Amino acid sequence: VTTTSTTGKNEQSSLPKNGVPKENPREWRNIRFEVLEKVEDLPSFNSVVLEFVKLARREFFSAKDFETVICKDQALVARLLKVANCGLYGRSRTINSIPEAIVLIGLDNLKRIVYAVSSQGMMCKEMTHYGFDAKQGFWIHSMAVGQAAQILAECCPECGIRGEESFVSGLLHDVAKLVLDGFLGNRPHKQVSLEMERSAVGLDHCELAGLILKQWNIPVSISGPVSHHHDFLAGGEATKGAAILSLARGICAAWNVGEISPIDMSRDIPMSRFAAEMEELGLDESRWESVIWNIRQSLSGMEKLFDNA
Ligand SMILES: [Fe+2]
Ligand SMILES: [Fe+2]
Repeated sequence: VTTTSTTGKNEQSSLPKNGVPKENPREWRNIRFEVLEKVEDLPSFNSVVLEFVKLARREFFSAKDFETVICKDQALVARLLKVANCGLYGRSRTINSIPEAIVLIGLDNLKRIVYAVSSQGMMCKEMTHYGFDAKQGFWIHSMAVGQAAQILAECCPECGIRGEESFVSGLLHDVAKLVLDGFLGNRPHKQVSLEMERSAVGLDHCELAGLILKQWNIPVSISGPVSHHHDFLAGGEATKGAAILSLARGICAAWNVGEISPIDMSRDIPMSRFAAEMEELGLDESRWESVIWNIRQSLSGMEKLFDNA
């Protein structure tokens, strides 16, 4: 059974209600197996990032913690210093070491660079489907949703979601698309519904992401929201984290961040579109404008990061 012919066949068949093609369950099982095999081929997430994820669960993430973890990967340190010196942070003098970088551009900015640099290899992949910009679209989309999710988590502290974890959930929310892209046929689909994914391989990118993150030992506080970013109300304990992701990706989509269509962050985003998420997060009209303003500010500084990482 070749992937292309099987996928092509499923594409034309009517969409099954439960995601399992009725007529040939055996064939479907083979495809699902192939998908899970492809997961093994994904480059592993940089181990430094995984240590960050662990550290993020602690109350304080100190400069010393950062230094200890980052220095285990000297190649990463070199790239980090290169980005820190790229002019993005308006420094006139050269930054030569991690402690200097922490003082001059701040721990939060440095962490952002580490996440960008560590995910670049895995995420800068040209995809046939999903409508991401060919060059770095998927990576930009993932980083942007991460950044927006972190801001949202910090804007509603009463939800009890850690900003750092929210960022990583956002960064990884669509990671399964990297695998599924190879199973959706050759004709490009700009919009791919969850039903199309299920019809092609028997599971959608939310379910597959759950399996991938489990394999990577990512904690449930991160994988839970990822698994439910398209149906946050069914997220159980992860409902609030998933609502944040749902809102973050909605905002990024409204501005076409990372998509083939040109980016436009000047566009107003009607709050009414996200009434359910807002209610879940306890966000009201009075905070909406400032949330959007914060996200816009933080995303508009990102471009240079991608050019220099
Ligand atoms: Fe997304
Ligand atoms: Fe998604």
